[in-house]
Amino acid sequence: MDDSYISVKNLIKTYSSKAEELVVLSGINFKIGRGEIVCLLGTSGSGKTTTLNLLAGIDKPTAGKILYDENEIHSWTLNHLSEYRLNEIGFIFQDFYLLEHLTALENIMIPLILRGETEDFAKEYAVDLLHSVGLGRKALNLPQELSSGEKQRVCVARAIANSPSILIADEPTGTLDTKTGDDIMELLLKLVQKNKMSMIYTSHDPYLTKVADKIIVLQKGKIKKYTQKEFPEVGYDKESFQFLVGGESGE
Ligand SMILES: Nc1ncnc2c1ncn2[C@@H]1O[C@H](COP(=O)(O)OP(=O)(O)OP(=O)(O)O)[C@@H](O)[C@H]1O
Ligand SMILES: [Mg+2]
Repeated sequence: MDDSYISVKNLIKTYSSKAEELVVLSGINFKIGRGEIVCLLGTSGSGKTTTLNLLAGIDKPTAGKILYDENEIHSWTLNHLSEYRLNEIGFIFQDFYLLEHLTALENIMIPLILRGETEDFAKEYAVDLLHSVGLGRKALNLPQELSSGEKQRVCVARAIANSPSILIADEPTGTLDTKTGDDIMELLLKLVQKNKMSMIYTSHDPYLTKVADKIIVLQKGKIKKYTQKEFPEVGYDKESFQFLVGGESGE
């Protein structure tokens, strides 16, 4: 019995224009297990965002399969796929994608309202989520009034609002300095463990692979290296939720 939430099988993605056919993913295979933390590592243009968009059902593969609990997601109806995106996937986008005219609180309320919750419930729950990401005091700020690290916290809260089973984070620390990036990673790991989620995140920085159970190195649309770690490297203490910068020991 396969204990994977997600199995990616021979996934191919090409983009065609008049001039050429661009092969972005040329037949990749990998799995995400229950509770597993997977890092997709690769340089710019290697196909990381494309892979995540396919996993989330935002984009359609040219060929190949993505099985979620052994069901092929791209064979579903659009409605079923939307339900999957809304209820099972928490997506943290590379460019935040916060609605600029809505407050931090309102941005987090959106997935709850989409799921059919009342406005009162959504507001109350979104306040709790803001507190859980350490941003309780910024509820009424617009995105433009937040720092990049704070915006990312809003994105994290929005992504977990509907208690997804899988968190998909596209370069969650990409625009942040090392300390702020570490804080965000620490927050993500804490939430993943607390809510019993799986997580796949992308990065171009090998430093950020240290908390992953599995590292997939993507190069020009192919998997160059696939490492399953028995134990993530020291650097994150699962008991205390401490992310230890630079692989320091816990003392
Ligand atoms: N809609 C599209 N149409 C045509 N080409 C695309 C499209 N989306 C992505 N590509 C191309 O696919 C390749 C992979 O893009 P992708 O965004 O997946 O890379 P990435 O690994 O996420 O890079 P980065 O680290 O810069 O975010 C790039 O060459 C990009 O130009
Ligand atoms: Mg990208």
